[in-house]
Amino acid sequence: MGKSVRVKSFELVAQDISEVDTHLLHALSAGVGWPHRPADWDFLRQVGQGIVAVDEIGRVFGSAMWFPQGEDFATVGLVITTPRAQAQGAGRWLMEQVTERCKERNLALNATRAAYPLYLTLGFQQEATVFMHRGNVSGVPELRLPHGALSELPATEIGEITACDTLGFGVNRSRVLAQLSEISTTCVLRRHGEVVGYAMRRPFGGLQVVGPIVADNDDDAILLVAWHLRTLNGQQVRIDTREAAGPFADLLSQCGLAVSETTITMSKGRRFLNRSANAPWVYALAGHALS
Ligand SMILES: CC(C)(COP(=O)(O)OP(=O)(O)OC[C@H]1O[C@@H](n2cnc3c(N)ncnc32)[C@H](O)[C@@H]1OP(=O)(O)O)[C@@H](O)C(=O)NCCC(=O)NCCS
Repeated sequence: MGKSVRVKSFELVAQDISEVDTHLLHALSAGVGWPHRPADWDFLRQVGQGIVAVDEIGRVFGSAMWFPQGEDFATVGLVITTPRAQAQGAGRWLMEQVTERCKERNLALNATRAAYPLYLTLGFQQEATVFMHRGNVSGVPELRLPHGALSELPATEIGEITACDTLGFGVNRSRVLAQLSEISTTCVLRRHGEVVGYAMRRPFGGLQVVGPIVADNDDDAILLVAWHLRTLNGQQVRIDTREAAGPFADLLSQCGLAVSETTITMSKGRRFLNRSANAPWVYALAGHALS
């Protein structure tokens, strides 16, 4: 009997991600070292759509999701090929399936180092670096609020942040924000009765994620993030931001949240990130898949 056997490659077909057992998806993401819990997959499946690559006996070898946001835009995420099936074309095939299903939508995603060359060859363009700050929260400063008021916003009133968020994000993502608000604590900053910034936090992957944070300037973003961090003292927190340096990034480091990984924001179609002076801006992402 031979000492080895050559196993034929698998034939994979696309299946709707909503039909798959959450634990198979959890095993897929855990297999590439990602922190998603089954509850995180369930939430993402409520927000977006997706496919899995399965073989003829229903084993899951890969996944890819897209999250329609507004009329003509979607973010892409959860693009995974299980390690033993990698480098055989499944990742490219999954992305081709996604772009076909997204039709004319402009797309954005946050690429890992492993996936960056693939997205480049698919026509995505680099826009910015995302810095994942993570750590045990400590030393949150007491800050003075010069004018305005910070308060918690109930999920039933989440529509109040739509105008500010749409200016910052560039697309009306009120449906996604409403879904996020159901599992988040939201803080708003009001001046003259108007919402000028907000920050959400929610459990994700065994820690707390603070994001999205949208504000007009660094000072307001700091007030909002500190509101959450003060209640999270001693806990593991993650914040994804495109602020490479400056007061906001400095505050995160000062509070024990060091940069642990980076990804690259890329887009296909219309440019995604358009910052203008003194207008709301996304200081922290909702998550890699949601941007
Ligand atoms: C990124 C990932 C999805 C790619 O999946 P895959 O099934 O290996 O992708 P493919 O086999 O279709 O390869 C796509 C491209 O990636 C590159 N690539 C894949 N494996 C590679 C390897 N081992 N070495 C160098 N380049 C490689 C090639 O450029 C390839 O291009 P080609 O089609 O012109 O040959 C997979 O590596 C993965 O799941 N990684 C961990 C999770 C992750 O980072 N996901 C991306 C989130 S943004």
